[in-house]
Amino acid sequence: SKMTHPVVKRGPFSLLEPRDIEVFQALLPERVITDPDVLRASCTDWLGNCPGNSVLMLRPRTTKEVSEILRYCNERQLALTPQGGNTGLVGGSVPLFDEIIVSTSLMDEVVSFNPLSGVLVCQAGCVLERLHNYLSEHGHIMPLDLGAKGSCQIGGNVSTNAGGVRLIRYGSLRHTVLGVEAVLADGTVLDLLTTLRKDNTGYDLKQLFLGGEGTLGLVTAVALACPRMPSSQNVAFLGCQSFDAVLKTFELARHRLGETLSAFEFLDEVCMWLVNTHLALANPVTEHPFYVLVETAGSCGRHDDEKMQDFLQEAMETAHVSAGTLATDPSKVQALWSVRERITEALSRDGFTYKYDVSLPTEDIYNLVVETRRVFQGESKHIVGYGHLGDGNLHLNVTVPAHDADFKKRLEELVYGWTARCRGSVSAEHGVGTFKRHVLASTKSPVALGIMRGIKQLLDPKGILNPYKILAD
Ligand code: FAD
Ligand code: MLT
Ligand code: ZN
Repeated sequence: SKMTHPVVKRGPFSLLEPRDIEVFQALLPERVITDPDVLRASCTDWLGNCPGNSVLMLRPRTTKEVSEILRYCNERQLALTPQGGNTGLVGGSVPLFDEIIVSTSLMDEVVSFNPLSGVLVCQAGCVLERLHNYLSEHGHIMPLDLGAKGSCQIGGNVSTNAGGVRLIRYGSLRHTVLGVEAVLADGTVLDLLTTLRKDNTGYDLKQLFLGGEGTLGLVTAVALACPRMPSSQNVAFLGCQSFDAVLKTFELARHRLGETLSAFEFLDEVCMWLVNTHLALANPVTEHPFYVLVETAGSCGRHDDEKMQDFLQEAMETAHVSAGTLATDPSKVQALWSVRERITEALSRDGFTYKYDVSLPTEDIYNLVVETRRVFQGESKHIVGYGHLGDGNLHLNVTVPAHDADFKKRLEELVYGWTARCRGSVSAEHGVGTFKRHVLASTKSPVALGIMRGIKQLLDPKGILNPYKILAD
């Protein structure tokens, strides 16, 4: 098998029988997929590293249908995998054996939007970009944005607690998601779909579904607090001579741009080479060892422009920055963002990619890339560092001609050993899924893992919901 993160043993689940398919066909006419050609894309993850063998995909439209599917699966002890846009990067959204795929793609209705509070209520299958477009017609935006916005769905974003490029400004989904509706393993509907900003009434159960990765319930709807659309936006793409200069630029940006700072992203020269070479994206500035994308967003163009100008002038004068270009025009803004957002795609064209998504203390975040190069340069194609610098989130990626189990083992020892010594996290934002579960214990204590298991046992005693994900066997 091509599977690079083997799960040895199928769980004690029933095998699908023709009578099961008949039950589903009666429940969801025309929305029961068994055609292997249609199923293939949903059986494989975005990275193409994790192929499963599901023979069935269900496409419910309503919470009630999801409830009936889960109640039946629980009774029959049939395992299932919830799936949104299937853009996840940790092998969480695909079946590993014959799990039934429950796709939210047809659950794509906006339920309500309140322009006074900015609260949006929608079904889980709404594609992120569609929500952006919907909200922009009402002068608002989604609080999260990421490169996969054209395909990922809000239910998938919530279930992975996706971070993205605006977290530095609007915070994580853990506080912008105000309410969740989820269907539990036995079909019970858990309605936590409130739209209140404040609610201190004991345990905050909805948080279990943020980053729950489909293991505790299937999220059917969410309520989100959405910010006003900024009326002014500036994007600067800058070149820095050293990583120390990147850090100084960040310090200066926090100081001078203050409340207008809405993104602070970085990439190294190898990332730039990859997007130049594989995607024909031009370098917006001259060649530098490091690049930074700084965005501001605010409500007063004059004020925001002035702040950006002052920041850039000081950054140049102090030589933290030695080249730069500034954009306000939407098409140029988009072009600058593409260089950063499309690194993932460029990597996937470069070779087999080992992806690491770690949280580390910001000041020495890049040392891990330097160390990985020192040890593994000779054995790999490219070793790159990029990410959400303002959040202390490094994406370290290593490309090789083909997967090699021994190489992976040695690479992980270095990366995760380093991360543990820094008290970092083995997953800053992508989740655990299939690929990170064997290293969870280096970020979480045995006590914490024990409580996680207890919660899983309580909510899904038969273990039918996305088995083999997050927690090790
Ligand atoms: P899927 O991939 O379909 O599913 C992800 C997980 O959630 C799976 O475990 C699945 O079982 C579960 N799930 C899905 N829907 C539900 C539901 N309704 N109820 C319960 N469980 C569910 N991530 C970041 O954090 N930041 C980034 O900047 C970022 N950029 C990306 C850029 C690219 C080009 C790509 C390909 C991915 C990127 N990601 C990023 C990964 C990110 O996790 C996903 O893009 C996104 O959050 C997943 O949404 P999805 O709808 O595709 O979910
Ligand atoms: C990003 O920040 O580009 C995403 O998290 C995807 C990736 O890590 O490649
Ligand atoms: Zn990221």
